[in-house]
Amino acid sequence: MAKLEVNVDHVATLRQARLIDEPDPVTAAALAELAGADGIIVHLREDRRHIQDRDLRLLRQTVKTRLNLEMAATKEMLGIASEVVPDLVTLVPEKRQELTTEGGLEVAGNRDFLQDYIRQLKEADLRVSLFVDPVAKQIDAARQVGAGWVELHTGTYAEAKSEKEAHRLFEELLAGARHAQSLGLRVKCGHGLNYRNIKRFKGHPEFEEYSIGHSIIARAVLVGIERAVREMVELIRT
Ligand code: PXP
Repeated sequence: MAKLEVNVDHVATLRQARLIDEPDPVTAAALAELAGADGIIVHLREDRRHIQDRDLRLLRQTVKTRLNLEMAATKEMLGIASEVVPDLVTLVPEKRQELTTEGGLEVAGNRDFLQDYIRQLKEADLRVSLFVDPVAKQIDAARQVGAGWVELHTGTYAEAKSEKEAHRLFEELLAGARHAQSLGLRVKCGHGLNYRNIKRFKGHPEFEEYSIGHSIIARAVLVGIERAVREMVELIRT
């Protein structure tokens, strides 16, 4: 059965907007697990724009399912991952100016660097996934540099402007997933998936796990707002 890992970065984004202590992504992660999430994901960015080191360390102590740490392949992150030991490390490209991760990792063009980096992660007992575009060249390279998983980038599919385009891009994802499996890689996918575009994946066991953040947190704000207002109204009126 397909698994869902929930990314709680945007709970931290909301907290960081005020630089106070709520909402806490650690609490959100616990609630996501109670609701059935199979894992929790956080992206500890170099600029610490949302998730903080404190969040990662607390999550390591409290997550009861699996903790997936998204990070850039830097020396600093290697040190943090080796110390915290998440259940999976997902290497992603990271640019300071981007709003969110843009595109998959360039694995084919950085084989030597990534092979050495992944070797160091494995020496620290870490399992490694690479976030890649669904193209054979990058998937082949992911296998060659020693990753056990690939996370196929679904962002382009999610931004399709027509049904026809969505169909074509989904077929590319499917071909990518099958190719990865044929090489012995495990397959996750994510980025931009929401309550509508996820439907096309139903009945496709090639995608073992889904990594979803923004659409779940966005919906949580809306489905939770009525109760939150009602509770405040009660406090004010009584
Ligand atoms: N996978 C990766 C590698 C990501 O960087 C992100 C965004 O943090 C996601 C999945 C989740 O994307 P979204 O927030 O659009 O669901």
